Amino acid sequence: MRTIYLDNAATSFPKPPRVYERLREYLEQYGGCPGRGSHLMARASESVIEETRKLLAELFGVQEPRQIVFTLNATDALNMAIKGAIAPGDHVVTTVLEHNSVMRPLNRLECKGLIQVTRIGVSREGLVEPADIRKALTARTKLVAVIHGSNVTGALQPIEEIGLMVRAHGALFLVDAAQTAGVVPIDVEAACIDLLAFPGHKALLGLSGTGGLYVGPRAQLTPWREGGTGVFSELPLQPEEFPYAFEAGSPNTLGLAGLRESIQFILQYGVKWIRTHELSVTKRLLEGLRADKRIKVYGPTSLESRIAVVSVNVTGCPPARVAEQLDRTCGIAVRSGLHCAPGAHQALGTFPEGTIRISPGYFTTEADIDVCLEALKETANNLPHTHDQRHEAVLRS
Ligand code: ALA
Repeated sequence: MRTIYLDNAATSFPKPPRVYERLREYLEQYGGCPGRGSHLMARASESVIEETRKLLAELFGVQEPRQIVFTLNATDALNMAIKGAIAPGDHVVTTVLEHNSVMRPLNRLECKGLIQVTRIGVSREGLVEPADIRKALTARTKLVAVIHGSNVTGALQPIEEIGLMVRAHGALFLVDAAQTAGVVPIDVEAACIDLLAFPGHKALLGLSGTGGLYVGPRAQLTPWREGGTGVFSELPLQPEEFPYAFEAGSPNTLGLAGLRESIQFILQYGVKWIRTHELSVTKRLLEGLRADKRIKVYGPTSLESRIAVVSVNVTGCPPARVAEQLDRTCGIAVRSGLHCAPGAHQALGTFPEGTIRISPGYFTTEADIDVCLEALKETANNLPHTHDQRHEAVLRS
């Protein structure tokens, strides 16, 4: 049975063909340690990394590519931004939608009594009202952290409007682009973004273990990982120059070589074109879901306020059970539960069981969506049966 992969919000699959092809070539022909030698192989790896940095700068409207530092993933980038920017006594504004990669670092600092955090609520559709952020800003607000596209509801937040307001106030604006980098146009200048955190393995279509953080000129971050940089080795302290200030240790060169290929693919087709395709299959999915009264769909009604992330529940059926059925009987890969964003589910009223999340990607076809809709309908039809099984399992246990 062919897997129909609808879990692109967790990680994208498949990758563009050129990623697979060029990775083999890279492993066979390059493979030196970048910045750690002057020989041909080390220089070749170094240039792969610098090309990847330049492509990312082109993608996000960053004028100085070195202001983009490579990280392990978006969580790593967000920790680097939050812990590097905040000092004791600071106030932070964020939203209830945030992923644990923002919530947990902030919660810890707050629990220790070091900072104050204001968490902005969202509308019934999961959208942030910029005026609510404005009202929360105080003289001590150092950072405003907002998830661009929710990994639970798919709600796309108005970051340009929020960014202008935050810039006028003088705080730093951190955008978590975990679900949007590569599939929604992002311009760090237009949106007044000071810190942009992104993974390489989701809509950027690269490999796991890659990600990055754009650090704008207004952000003064303390490095949180120190060590070898391959340059300025005589200095007793971490060099202050970008990107070395934040890139200690040998990088994931293979991953970054893959990212170079996937970003070239994205730039070739264009972010807008990729978004158009993803929204087109999402529209088909939403129409099919909304036609079935037993299925509850969460998130914005308007397609323009969405990314290709759709959370649903089948009335009377635990989301984990539905996801298991889809996987076992139809080979459909979706993710159920809280999606590492418990606050978003509390806001939706779906805590603690969560939802079934269906996330199409660039390679999803209309036929894939139709199979998923049919399978969900079947699952809903078989509800009494699934309930009986659960009841029997309880009796047996
Ligand atoms: N944060 C990723 C997700 O939403 C892994 O599934």
